[in-house]
Amino acid sequence: MKIDVFFTPLGLNAGDLTGRAVVVIDVLRATSTIVTALSAGAKAVVPAASSEEAVRLTSNLERNGIVLAGERRMLKIEGFALGNSPREMTPETVGGKTLFLATTNGTPALVAAQGGDPVLVAAALNFSAVAERARTLFAERGEIVLICAGREKQFALENAYTAGRLIKAVKKGVPPKKLMLNDAAQVSLDLAAQQGGWLDAFGASGAAQQLSDVGLGEDVKFCAQPDKLHIVPVYADRRIAA
Ligand code: MLT
Repeated sequence: MKIDVFFTPLGLNAGDLTGRAVVVIDVLRATSTIVTALSAGAKAVVPAASSEEAVRLTSNLERNGIVLAGERRMLKIEGFALGNSPREMTPETVGGKTLFLATTNGTPALVAAQGGDPVLVAAALNFSAVAERARTLFAERGEIVLICAGREKQFALENAYTAGRLIKAVKKGVPPKKLMLNDAAQVSLDLAAQQGGWLDAFGASGAAQQLSDVGLGEDVKFCAQPDKLHIVPVYADRRIAA
């Protein structure tokens, strides 16, 4: 039984994920924002590879059914209704709407994961729900792939930590001799064992530092709340729904 982790989607080649069960992780903040938006009643979230793509995808759509959201350097994109803060995702802002979301690392990672079947969206916020679904898939398929969004094409601590915690939950009961972890999966598992809890691990990351530098430190605390939400968003046919 095999668990592969990718620290960024850059190492993925076309066809690598075809038909494989995939979990995408960008806890600070894209996947936390997606989970929160869907829990707040958004109909669906469409991840875009860039802000230009988000604008293009919405150009012919009825304005009152959609919300454009996203960030550049952590801050709301000019002309977009919302940024990429999960705290902005409320029934008032996104209820009944389709959210078109463009972020620096998270939404491109989702777009890169499209060949997977299924593609699950993971955050600390929905950790137990997503871990349970991933565990079932792992038992049925004998393998799972965890894709971390990374940060600016580099390793991101908060996502690797989350991957490590997921691996620990997913491999429960599998005899060590039957388990194959790629190197990134092994390191993620070790990292999760060494770091403290969610907030300590997220708080130690470069992303948390950047968020605090632009006055968004509260988002780190929000994203580090495990099991606040109980949905498992699934990305299929270009949209994510709960
Ligand atoms: C991203 O996708 O790069 C992040 O979610 C950045 C952010 O915190 O907005």
